[in-house]
Amino acid sequence: FLASIELIPDGTPEPTRTMDRAADPVPAAAGPFHNAPDTDPSLSANRDWAAAIRERMPHSTVGRDTSERATIRTPEELDGAIAEVAASDWGSRPASERAAILRRAGDEIERRRGELIEVMGSECGKVIEQSDPEVSEAADFARFYADGAEALSRVDGARFAPVRVTAVIPPWNFPAAIPAGGVLAALAAGSAVVFKPASRAARTGAVIAEALWAAGVPRDALRLVRPAGDLGSRLIGDERVERVILTGSYETAERFREVRPGLTLLAETSGKNAIIVTPSADLDLAARDIANSAFGHAGQKCSAASLIVLVGSVGESERFRRQLLDAVEGYAVGMPWDEASRIGPLIAPAEGKLLRGLTTLEEGQSWLLEPRQLGEALWTPGIRLGVRPGSEFHLTEYFGPVAGIMTAETLEEAIDIVNAVDYGLTSGLHSLDEDEIGLWLARIEAGNAYVNRGTTGAIVERQPFGGWKKSSVGPGTKAGGPSYLFALGTWTDADPAG
Ligand code: ALA
Repeated sequence: FLASIELIPDGTPEPTRTMDRAADPVPAAAGPFHNAPDTDPSLSANRDWAAAIRERMPHSTVGRDTSERATIRTPEELDGAIAEVAASDWGSRPASERAAILRRAGDEIERRRGELIEVMGSECGKVIEQSDPEVSEAADFARFYADGAEALSRVDGARFAPVRVTAVIPPWNFPAAIPAGGVLAALAAGSAVVFKPASRAARTGAVIAEALWAAGVPRDALRLVRPAGDLGSRLIGDERVERVILTGSYETAERFREVRPGLTLLAETSGKNAIIVTPSADLDLAARDIANSAFGHAGQKCSAASLIVLVGSVGESERFRRQLLDAVEGYAVGMPWDEASRIGPLIAPAEGKLLRGLTTLEEGQSWLLEPRQLGEALWTPGIRLGVRPGSEFHLTEYFGPVAGIMTAETLEEAIDIVNAVDYGLTSGLHSLDEDEIGLWLARIEAGNAYVNRGTTGAIVERQPFGGWKKSSVGPGTKAGGPSYLFALGTWTDADPAG
């Protein structure tokens, strides 16, 4: 299968990079874009490598503020850092030079795969099954946007001028891939960056920044802010900051716009995502994809599925409920340093609406699987039955390991139920009927629509990621897609004479 083999210059096939994680990574050559492969756990060398990483994970920092590695800690330092990046020559360097540095950044990120997995586990509670693909995604962003940097300089009929300063404000749930994506996109577009990681993911953010500096990103083109006090509001309120890349809640995006009306924000915000299952579906596959989409990383993904809408006979099917429970049963809950864990802890404590979602049924609802609290932050998955249209559970994002089942007579009715939600981030359909798939694709209101696949884990270049409706604030361009860099600068018509 040729696509999985890369050639080195003398024509000798290079061993595939999925082979042995303990060996030195092979630098990616410029050429056609390839997604970085995840670690293959079927190889015993990789299992030993993963065991050694779990062994090294400190057990004490999950969910704590771990921002000691950032250098900008005071308002005065922030002010100086913004001035410094605004004066950086990064944007005036040739695109080919910036692209070469970003490609090296992809290699530096992959070189730190073990360190990133370790820090994501200890700091954010991510199990390796979840954090390993994040490292691949971060490296993908580097190489994909490197190509984009060069493509921007070749657009016909228009000239692109980078902005000077972009602020990148990512969340804690994807502590490596999302910050890397934002920072690398801005750098690719020629903007210098002030990067403020989430307070619960500051050490992971620091490792990403160190990888980029090691690749040759100049210090004055990328500065790291300690996520504390009001430095975040100062950063977005500063007029020298021309773009803000945010991943967070819709409310946070609204707050940013209040702090600074007129701000150009590229925000990927909240979601309340559904998977519809019709009677034509492969029900085994549907059950597995639902379990993974709803409970992977304890449901703490903006892309997680938390509504399961069963059409017609599937809603009555005892067998399907059994399949779903069997699929969820495989998800052992525990800390990331325990090999058996497939669902790690909650990073933000279960309070307020999330606690309600995990504990309180609404009228007409019952538990198919009742969540149990195993430790301070450890919750087993919950599935509720009888979620009614218009109920709190139908319309609210909980960001935790709880899903609800709804039923519909027809696919049309199921689509109406899903579209009634204010958000439109990801959506899934399980169906083997082409007419059903066509109808759903034509009507579903979601940025990322997935057929016979889970709703999480978008792949750079193949599945650009971004929302619709209240899941996106700003130009609506998708991360990891061909137009993401376009909004990170300004366009003018090319001079017809020159
Ligand atoms: N890009 C992440 C996913 O697709 C959020 O799950």
